Amino acid sequence: MNTDPTQQTPTGWWTEAAIYQIYPRSFADSDGDGVGDLPGITARLDHLVELGVDAVWLSPFYPSPQADAGYDVADYRNVDPLFGTLADADKLLTEARSRGLRVIVDLVPNHTSSAHRWFQEALAASPGSLPRSRYIFRDGLGPAGDQPPNDWQSVFGGPAWTRTVDPDGQPGQWYLHLFDTGQPDLNWDNPEVHEEFLDVLRFWLDRGVDGFRVDVAHGLIKQANLPDWQEPQEILSGNEIDKPRPPMWDQEGVHEIYRQWRQVLDSYPGERVLVAEAWVEPAERLARYVRPDEMHQAFNFEYLLAAWTAPAQYAVITRSLEATDSVGAPTTWVLSNHDVVRHASRLGLAIGGGRPNGIGIGDPQPDAALGLRRARAATLLMLALPGSAYLYQGEELGLPEHTTMPDEARQDPTWARSGHTQRGRDGCRVPIPWEADAPSYGFGPTDASWLPQPPSWAEYALDRQRDVPGSTYELYREALRLRRAHGLGRGTLEWLSSDDETLVFRNGELTVLTNFGDAPVPLPPNAEVLATSAPLTGIAIPTDVTVWLRS
Ligand code: GLC
Repeated sequence: MNTDPTQQTPTGWWTEAAIYQIYPRSFADSDGDGVGDLPGITARLDHLVELGVDAVWLSPFYPSPQADAGYDVADYRNVDPLFGTLADADKLLTEARSRGLRVIVDLVPNHTSSAHRWFQEALAASPGSLPRSRYIFRDGLGPAGDQPPNDWQSVFGGPAWTRTVDPDGQPGQWYLHLFDTGQPDLNWDNPEVHEEFLDVLRFWLDRGVDGFRVDVAHGLIKQANLPDWQEPQEILSGNEIDKPRPPMWDQEGVHEIYRQWRQVLDSYPGERVLVAEAWVEPAERLARYVRPDEMHQAFNFEYLLAAWTAPAQYAVITRSLEATDSVGAPTTWVLSNHDVVRHASRLGLAIGGGRPNGIGIGDPQPDAALGLRRARAATLLMLALPGSAYLYQGEELGLPEHTTMPDEARQDPTWARSGHTQRGRDGCRVPIPWEADAPSYGFGPTDASWLPQPPSWAEYALDRQRDVPGSTYELYREALRLRRAHGLGRGTLEWLSSDDETLVFRNGELTVLTNFGDAPVPLPPNAEVLATSAPLTGIAIPTDVTVWLRS
């Protein structure tokens, strides 16, 4: 028997699951206030069953001033009235379970909201006090203390420090916030912070959640003494393995936290999982988050960021599989989420032209038809890969980014904090269309929508695509059905060929071919086409098309 834990392949549901991300603000609005809510999600669960996913991950729905769309949590054990009540959350969990859907919730441990009781207590307390020690407060530099304690920048732009005002009205200490000013970073050197989050984990596990997506999992521990870091701030550390780590990301100490959390999850019945949102490169560093006694999975952002070329895709797929194999974990795949330009638009931009943080009026616009064509090919390629796949709401409709949103409508703090240089993430967060001819395209019972929906979105609505052969929705449905029927998620990838234009691999009895080149590629002889991302031309596979074949 093999006793090396890294050589034992895990077998839980999550290892091969298709997991659908719901961004509650924008999925379905039951009360017509323009913001999606938990009862709206519950009412639409049958859509997810029909689509054929195994689980949902819900972005935060906790009480929050919404300075960062709910990633600023004021109370980890409740539901914001904007989204409903705890009873609504319980109902959602029960209804999901009765349909065989698992539910993962978002946990935000790097920072709280500035409205959190702990932070309010810290502001009212004096420097060096216990309430202040739950956060990262420091005196400012310079004789008057009016310079930030170090040079760190916020991910959203501007300094990562804000100066406080003491109860007597005098300027006080500074606090660290790697994100918005409304998101003070917690001090994970304080044992009380550990205790608090262990309790929050239990709170939601007791209510029946199947796991947690852990926000900014690579950020909790900062290097001692908070040394200056003269580099521009990016959430992705982007380091080669032998370069110095930025002092705020991917520090060794984070792993001990997840080992402890893992023990809590393992003490519960069923297979509960931890999923790391860790913008860590290269894949070998990321793999350290999914060692056998830590998290179960980590988002594969290197895959999401890879260029749409055969060599780039070959390299990232191979590297991802090798890195997770080395620690005995399954790989994950993801193309879109609430923080990046939707892949139906991203892939319509020039290859190698950089990655915009949002697209707006006056920016180079993606080629919508090309983007959708490549997005469909990319998804069909992704869903054939072994491991689990994360889908972001609306991508099953081929939904593009809203790339012409009026700047006045933007709500992502990135836009203001970057001095209006980075448009940010609103374009991928627009409420999704369900019915072409209904108010707010069926998002809610009224016209209200917290971000404006583009006038062209009727054509993407679910009711325009359901049962329409060749629609993006039917492509997703069929691919998810075949993926399950052929056990692709638990299969093994075997490369048959790869060159500058095409990738061909086998997974079980399926052969998967993607044509990235300019010229059509002939179908292999005697191949039965099980799925194709676009119509074939006779016996040829055109440019930017993926096919699933059985020979
Ligand atoms: C994660 C979330 C993002 C949020 C940030 C701060 O990256 O995905 O939406 O702004 O963390 O919590």
